[in-house]
Amino acid sequence: MSAVIAIQQLSKTYASGHSALRQVDLEIQRGEIFALLGPNGAGKTTLISIICGIVNPTSGQVLVDGQDIVRDYRAARSQIGLVPQELVNDVFETVSASLRFSRGLFGKKPDPAYLEQLLRDLSLWDKRDAKIFELSGGMKRRVMIAKALAHEPRILFLDEPTAGVDVELRRDMWEMVRRLRERGVTIILTTHYIEEAEEMADRIGIIRKGEIILVEDKALLMRKLGKKQLSLQLKQPLASLPGSLQGFALELDAQGQVLRYHYDGQQEHSGIAELLRTLDEAGIEFGDLQSSQSSLEEIFVNLLRESA
Ligand SMILES: Nc1ncnc2c1ncn2[C@@H]1O[C@H](COP(=O)(O)OP(=O)(O)OP(=O)(O)O)[C@@H](O)[C@H]1O
Ligand SMILES: [Mg+2]
Repeated sequence: MSAVIAIQQLSKTYASGHSALRQVDLEIQRGEIFALLGPNGAGKTTLISIICGIVNPTSGQVLVDGQDIVRDYRAARSQIGLVPQELVNDVFETVSASLRFSRGLFGKKPDPAYLEQLLRDLSLWDKRDAKIFELSGGMKRRVMIAKALAHEPRILFLDEPTAGVDVELRRDMWEMVRRLRERGVTIILTTHYIEEAEEMADRIGIIRKGEIILVEDKALLMRKLGKKQLSLQLKQPLASLPGSLQGFALELDAQGQVLRYHYDGQQEHSGIAELLRTLDEAGIEFGDLQSSQSSLEEIFVNLLRESA
């Protein structure tokens, strides 16, 4: 895969003196879904705004498909669709007119069939003649997405796309994002819903206080940092752990009915076979057995805590 966005040594210090980005290096691969995670104020919107030419960088360079976002602004920007975090809409326009206008801004020929499909995909076709101020918050957000896609960009930035969108619609939007990816669109999203990153992303970047502290393939990240846990439902409650089990990373719940074994999902040797053998020798019987892995949310919280 080749990088469609290459960011080098990018820094931003706002006029207030606040340093929002510090020497960020990042490459986004063509056709991937990249999720940028980070707490409030970490610099996510600043990073996106620089790539989209809304905020000037203090230093560093960003290439979009080889075009410099400052020197070759128009060429770089025409490849990008942006759904900003803040709802900014021409509220007195109708939905359709607003889309046609956005497309025209990029010098694209009118294409009613494309815009109709876009509105249908976003369940907005029925609202095409409504004025934007008449729509609900979730609908306005979908209008923002439709507008961002009106000029058929190859790269789509979604800054908190599903904030304020109900669960069902959120699923529809995820579905749409996947379809876009299938068509070769590269997607970069920021989100506070970690389940969204877990569900959607191919790669995850974690940003904290203006620094990218980690970029990793999602599956790899979850395998590497995800702690695994095995829960055994005991047939007879235990008052305490017998001595032969002391050497294992075990935890007995307050009722003495569930034994939890923690192990490192990355290590080849989980120790489960030995644990089961030792349980058998100690005459401890269990009924049900379940294994689970820590979620991206736990990994994320732990990473931020570690680097604090
Ligand atoms: N125009 C501005 N002038 C001065 N400081 C700013 C400006 N915009 C953002 N900042 C500051 O830069 C830092 C990063 O802000 P940014 O909006 O990029 O964070 P974020 O990661 O998008 O946060 P959130 O998750 O809340 O959207 C914050 O401390 C913010 O106060
Ligand atoms: Mg933001």
